[in-house]
Amino acid sequence: MSAPNKSFDPVEVSTLAPEYLAERVSEAIAAITAAQSLDELKEVRLAHTGDRSPLALANREIGALPPAAKAEAGKRMGEARGSVNQALAARTADLEVARDAALLLEEAVDVTTVSSTPLQGGRHPLTTIQEQISDVFIALGYSVAEGPEVESEWFNFDALNIAPDHPARTMQDTFFIGSENSGLVLRTHTSPVQIRSMLTRTPPIYVICPGRVFRTDELDATHSPVFHQVEALVIDKGITMADLKGTLNHFAQAMFGAGIVTRLRPSYFPFTEPSAEVDLQCFVCRGNSIDNPAEPCRTCRSEGWIEWGGCGMVNPKVLIACGIDPDEYSGFAFGMGLERTLMFRHGITDMRDMVEGDVRFTRAFGLGI
Ligand code: PHE
Repeated sequence: MSAPNKSFDPVEVSTLAPEYLAERVSEAIAAITAAQSLDELKEVRLAHTGDRSPLALANREIGALPPAAKAEAGKRMGEARGSVNQALAARTADLEVARDAALLLEEAVDVTTVSSTPLQGGRHPLTTIQEQISDVFIALGYSVAEGPEVESEWFNFDALNIAPDHPARTMQDTFFIGSENSGLVLRTHTSPVQIRSMLTRTPPIYVICPGRVFRTDELDATHSPVFHQVEALVIDKGITMADLKGTLNHFAQAMFGAGIVTRLRPSYFPFTEPSAEVDLQCFVCRGNSIDNPAEPCRTCRSEGWIEWGGCGMVNPKVLIACGIDPDEYSGFAFGMGLERTLMFRHGITDMRDMVEGDVRFTRAFGLGI
């Protein structure tokens, strides 16, 4: 600090001289303007207004001035500090605005960019329909039975009353495991599960068996060497074809909508007697397209009915083969193709779409379970 000013002339205290103060102020303002960030500005503030800044040091000189000079020096100092503080406030405001704008840009979320979330797969509609069918029958008190896909010929044919000379047993339809004499085949239908169920359970028996089956067909729009069936078997006292028909109608409605009924056409299966083909009333035209060229139906080709599966009353020979007394018990069985069921339920025209495993096909059915 300089010695007391005896001449009372504040101008003589060099740090309080107007030019000196004006220079410090313009230095400060230049530094404030040059600061590019709030951090830089903080340093500028310290250097130009802090305790050791030229202005603060000059301010201390005021105390040493004679009273008459203090007022003028104090006013000059006040103005100088005022302009620096004003410049600081203005620059702070500007830099805050810039910081907020930069932050907004940095944190902006582009809601239109493609998500990098991995695509979820989809459940195959064949899996979903198997579970839907299982649910329908579990609600009726049935259980779900399973059997092996590599099956002994006895279960796949003999026990089902399919004689050794039956055409289905030849190499044309059946995949044999190893040689033709190995006694093992890839099951050609789910009916062997009927036999396994009757051998392992005691009546009353109410089971369904959805599962994969195999036949030596070429893959084309309507055939596949690997496909799925669902089999139902009921063995109880006093079971009649009326029970079979009622169950089929319930199943048809659960799959295709209220009011859809089934029709039985006489047929032949070695393991059922009598046997029938199950037709499903067309759930699109409900028969209205029959003899009605004005309103043709693509789903049933204007026939009003769609072939769905096979059924019948369990042949007493099969009951006997499984140790069940046909005088005490009777039963029914039916079986249908799941691919076929899906194809007409969803208007799928090519079987290969269901086999190829393209996730775009699967996802079209949604992720529902
Ligand atoms: N198993 C027969 C088939 O694959 C279908 C069927 C099942 C028929 C049950 C009658 C009873 O063609």
